[in-house]
Amino acid sequence: MEKKRELVILLDFGAQYAQLIARRVRAANVYCEILPYHTPAAELAARQPKGIIFSGGPASVLDADAPRCDAGVFELGVPVLGICYGMQLMTVMLGGTVETPDEREYGRVIVTVDDTDCLLQGVKPQIQTWMSHTLQVTQPPQGFRSTAHTAHCAFAAFENREKRFFGVQFHPEVSHCDQGQDILVNFLHHICGCSGSWQMNSYAEEAVAAIREQVGDKQVLLGLSGGVDSSVVAALLHRAVGEQLTAVFVNHGLMRKNEPEEVEAVFRPRLGDKLIAVDASQRFLSKLAGVSDPETKRKIIGREFVEVFAETARSLGKLDFLAQGTIYPDIVESGSTTGMVIKSHHNVGGLPKDLPFCGVVEPLRPLFKDEVRALGLELGLPEHMVWRPPFPGPGLAIRIIGEITEDKLEIVRESDAIVREEIAKAGMARAAAQYFSVLTGLRSVGVMGDERSYDYTVAVRAVQTDDFMTADWVRLPYDTLDMISRRIVNEVRHVNRVVYDITSKPPASIEWE
Ligand code: XMP
Repeated sequence: MEKKRELVILLDFGAQYAQLIARRVRAANVYCEILPYHTPAAELAARQPKGIIFSGGPASVLDADAPRCDAGVFELGVPVLGICYGMQLMTVMLGGTVETPDEREYGRVIVTVDDTDCLLQGVKPQIQTWMSHTLQVTQPPQGFRSTAHTAHCAFAAFENREKRFFGVQFHPEVSHCDQGQDILVNFLHHICGCSGSWQMNSYAEEAVAAIREQVGDKQVLLGLSGGVDSSVVAALLHRAVGEQLTAVFVNHGLMRKNEPEEVEAVFRPRLGDKLIAVDASQRFLSKLAGVSDPETKRKIIGREFVEVFAETARSLGKLDFLAQGTIYPDIVESGSTTGMVIKSHHNVGGLPKDLPFCGVVEPLRPLFKDEVRALGLELGLPEHMVWRPPFPGPGLAIRIIGEITEDKLEIVRESDAIVREEIAKAGMARAAAQYFSVLTGLRSVGVMGDERSYDYTVAVRAVQTDDFMTADWVRLPYDTLDMISRRIVNEVRHVNRVVYDITSKPPASIEWE
């Protein structure tokens, strides 16, 4: 018999943070589904949610065409939590008033908590929150009362306990909000009555079922890069459709130390001859010979990758679906509104039209990196593979400033391995989101033994970030930096100087090219 799953629905009013809210709900071990704001109340009722969350959104509730939910949502007898725009919408739809405040609240705002009986149970008297709004509630709907305020807003949080409707003007889902997760847990567990029994293995089970339904008895092709995301997709697809999966691993010769061997070691036993490993190193290196411009390098690698992948796909005969390891931050990044190409990221999105795939399988689309890792462990992938720092598609090519040669690749590959080893030894592997070495184009004078040397400078970079859009450099212990530096100059030929990159993003980017 099918297990009854506890579900909370997030109605999306165009929020930048919708997936983040969903992720926080999942972190409270409750399954969350995101639906468009206009989903009819009857459809919501049919899913029997334990609670409904209204997301924030960029519109103004005072606009005539502001997105509104079906008014029937308030008749379902289900608890509702409105966040920012969601709170304001609840206000106007239930007869209260919102207005443009004299003082706009944006960014970090201190909220004073006045009532800790229900939604704000266990919350400190004052918390730092994150706000981003141009309107605020001035008159709540009947039956509502304020439970928190700020210096400029009497209704930083409100509730109608009888009807179980709640609103917060701030964003509890962002990491800058003190006790934001506690507030969400109060809503989900105490108010909605969810038991908090949902886990990543449930995601795996559901994803397997969904993949089976989508793919049926058809064939799936996956581009396996050796990175975390595509490895997790491979493991998931293998569990879902077994022999119907073919994975192509293109070794472009720009991989980290031992990476191709690890892909073999982990996936050959699972996939057997359905793992197609293509060694295209020489092909890539010859195309890259003499090229030093970063964008040109990226474009060559992107183009070549697509060609090798497509040639291999064609040689395999009929394949119906293309699987991809797209995760949620990839979608946000490619949907960036700046319109500026800072770096052209390569992925397999630009496959030639003549490859006759009838659909794309993207089972990690709603997940964040840490969730992908949890899923990978759940699927039995080795910890060292799941916890490897993320690696860009163009590989070591963008960590060598200027022209790429085999000798330079050797330097960056060996020094990167040392950086990773020492960071792991120092127990810092999870404190840094990404860490690696860069072969700068700079050569300088040094002294080795009694001899003058004129050799390369290697830069070490380690950053902490939640979303890879902004990042700060990690304060690695001096002893770790010291060990990294000593080992690199001693063990890697042609390096006589090591520097640590202490720039945040922005203004620098994470990779050097
Ligand atoms: P930047 O250097 O833009 O990097 O601050 C942000 C994150 O993206 C990764 N990155 C890439 N990933 N293909 C990828 O799959 C690419 O072309 C690419 N360029 C950068 C980078 O490693 C960091 O995690």
